[in-house]
This record gives sequence, C-alpha cells and structure tokens, in this order.
Amino acid sequence: MRKKIVAGNWKMNLGLAEGCQLVQDVLAGMPTLSAERQVLFAPSLLHLTQIQALVQGKEFVRVAAQNCHQEKRGAYTGEVSAEMLHSAGIPVVILGHSERREYNAESDAILAQKLDAARGADLDIIFCCGEPLSVRDAGSQNAFVESQIRAALFHLEASAWSRIALAYEPIWAIGTGRTASSAQAQEMHAHIRNVLASQYGTTLAERVPILYGGSCKPSNAAELFACPDVDGGLIGGASLQAADFLGIIQAMVAAK
Ligand code: PGA
Repeated sequence: MRKKIVAGNWKMNLGLAEGCQLVQDVLAGMPTLSAERQVLFAPSLLHLTQIQALVQGKEFVRVAAQNCHQEKRGAYTGEVSAEMLHSAGIPVVILGHSERREYNAESDAILAQKLDAARGADLDIIFCCGEPLSVRDAGSQNAFVESQIRAALFHLEASAWSRIALAYEPIWAIGTGRTASSAQAQEMHAHIRNVLASQYGTTLAERVPILYGGSCKPSNAAELFACPDVDGGLIGGASLQAADFLGIIQAMVAAK
C-alpha cells in the first residue's frame, strides 16, 4: 500500500508556547496512525527541536524542517545545513516550496543541489512543485510541472525515491481559499505519476506518495484524498488550528 502523509507547514507562524500547545492538542485527538498513515509537523527552524521532543515516542508522527541550505557548511550567515538538521535529530525536510522559490530565488538548479545535500545527510524529503495562475490559465500546467520535476529530481538514481514524497501545490490555491477541484488535483497527480514512470518505471512511480497542497481544509480533504493519486496533503493555514488539522488527518486516515 502506498504511504499517505498529512504534513502541517506552519511557515513563519506561531510562537513557541503556541506551537507546543497546538502539537499537544493535535496529539490528544490523534487517530490511530500506521506506517502507511503518517503525520508531520513543520514548525519554524527555531522551534524544531522542542516540537521534536513533544512528538518523541509517538509512532508515525515526525517533524520536518521547512528548508535547508545546499552546502554542507561554511560562510553562509543565517543558513542551516542538512547535516545540522540531521545532527539535531530532525528526520525530514521540505524543499522547493513556492514561497521559497519566489522570495528566496530558489531555482530548479539550486533545488537539485539541496536535494543532494538532504540525501547526503540522510533526511527524508518532501519536494514541492506547482504552477502559477498565468500558467494554469494558459493551459500549460502539465508541461510546467513536468519541467520542474525533471530539472530538480531526474538526476537521482532510482533508490533515492524511497525517501522522497512529492507535493503538488498550485500557487493560485495557496493561502487563497481557492482549492483545486478534486478533478484538477487528480489529473495533475496522475500526470506527475506518469512523468515519474517515464523515467523510472511504473513500479517506482506507483510507490511515491504525491501530496496535494493549497487551501486544503476539513471540508474538502475527504474529497481530495479520495482521488486515487492523491496521497494526503501539505497543509498551511488549516494546520494552525488543532480542530482543523485533526479533521484533515482524520480524512487521510479514513481514505482508502
Ligand atoms: P495553505 O498552504 O494550506 O494555507 O493554502 C499550503 C502550503 O503552502 O503548503
């Protein structure tokens, strides 16, 4: 069975006490998870180790960093390397979020390097892709997302993919309240799986979790997660409220 994941991307939100309270509230209501039904919290870098301590020993609940640097170490003021994350016991990193691509000028080439750094430091990776509205309006979203994936990921050997999940996040749906319809999500997720199959074969493509992100909430999560190629979600705004995040987690656990 393919793994399903719900990951809460807190972005630059929540103070330490608020974040700890949120995790405790979510843990208190957490349904039964499994190797195939996992939950992630991605708080700010500053709070990662404290949040990590709260989920320690909770099976199938982990923390993720929202970014790492592509170099191992050196004169990069304000940056954190993949090895530093690993040395602090952080098991997962999110790479390629559209906000980092836009505000931090992260190109596909830099993201390819970050992927290698994360792999070198033994981290699991959630890699984000997704098109802006202009591309969707022009109808060229499939080619756009395919080129993001090819440019950043296709240098990897097949074995690397056991540690990678993809997240399709149409930029026009992030934080806008405008969710992709389940038909739009399914169409793109199936396309991404075909792109993976063309390079690595069907067996590998069938194993890679592909999460959906962009205004996912309790009211639409069940419908999105019922799509055959949607394997959970990367959740922004709705991950900041325990009840909403739990509603989305429950939809993932209930999905076939
Ligand atoms: P959103 O963000 O759920 O607030 O739309 C999703 C994301 O950016 O990961």
